[in-house]
Amino acid sequence: MILVAGSANLDFVVRAPHIPSPGETVLGDDFKTYPGGKGANQAVACARAGGAKTHLLAALGADAFAAPIEASLADAGVVLHVVRAAEQATGTAFICVSAQGENAITVAPGANQSLAPAHLPALAGFSHLLLQLETPLETVAAYARAAQSQGLTVVLNAAPAQHLSAELLADVDILIVNQGELAALADGCASQDEQISRIAVPCLIVTLGQEGCVARSGQHRFVQAAFPVKVLDTTGAGDTFCGTLVAALSQGETMPDALRRASAAAALACTSLGAQSSIPTAQAVAAMLAQGKKTT
Ligand code: RIB
Repeated sequence: MILVAGSANLDFVVRAPHIPSPGETVLGDDFKTYPGGKGANQAVACARAGGAKTHLLAALGADAFAAPIEASLADAGVVLHVVRAAEQATGTAFICVSAQGENAITVAPGANQSLAPAHLPALAGFSHLLLQLETPLETVAAYARAAQSQGLTVVLNAAPAQHLSAELLADVDILIVNQGELAALADGCASQDEQISRIAVPCLIVTLGQEGCVARSGQHRFVQAAFPVKVLDTTGAGDTFCGTLVAALSQGETMPDALRRASAAAALACTSLGAQSSIPTAQAVAAMLAQGKKTT
């Protein structure tokens, strides 16, 4: 079983010709809401990938924004451990998506901030814990410590970017970052290679958008090209990568195979709108893999 612990948001999304600069107003299309949040998105991606049962620990408000998130998680087959933060609003994210499919996201964390160390369920039966950084850092660190001490594989998607202590990194088995997050963690390193070598975790994966991804795992280095698709909306693509990767590893796939599956799923997630709504089924990913690129 896989435990994902992290954020759940309702995403308020508008598409516009471009993402506005500071002080600029742009006219967009109709606005829509979608279930999102990095933790919930990653749990849905794990569950859709199939294999191990996926549980999500998340905090939600006692308001109308929680219901579509809970419905989306239930629809994907995720077992939800909900912390009901009656005094706070469910987390929300305000997202502008450009004509090129790029996004700018502002999160109002709300209830996500009430996720506390004491909320961690018993870890017996779980093989992997998947974490992100949209909930309090001390909670993330406490969960990583507990899981590491009980022999789970701890996977941290260090998004959004922030500085991480050596103590937290010591409890992480697999760290997943994009280029901006990598630079924030390895501040002062000249090259990407130097940044990748510097961060002290057993396995580091760097997602590179349309350039694919690279990984350092023990003594091995892997490069996976991106699967070419017509990009509509990149929201949730990174989360799809993380959730699919952990699901694949939990099923015993090798790192190159897991990177390939995660890359195919992330590419497909860019071809439709929204976060959880765009995460592909295992069947769609299998079809993509049948025609896709190999890891080198
Ligand atoms: O990674 C995409 C997610 O970031 C969105 O769903 C939004 O809720 C923010 O958490």
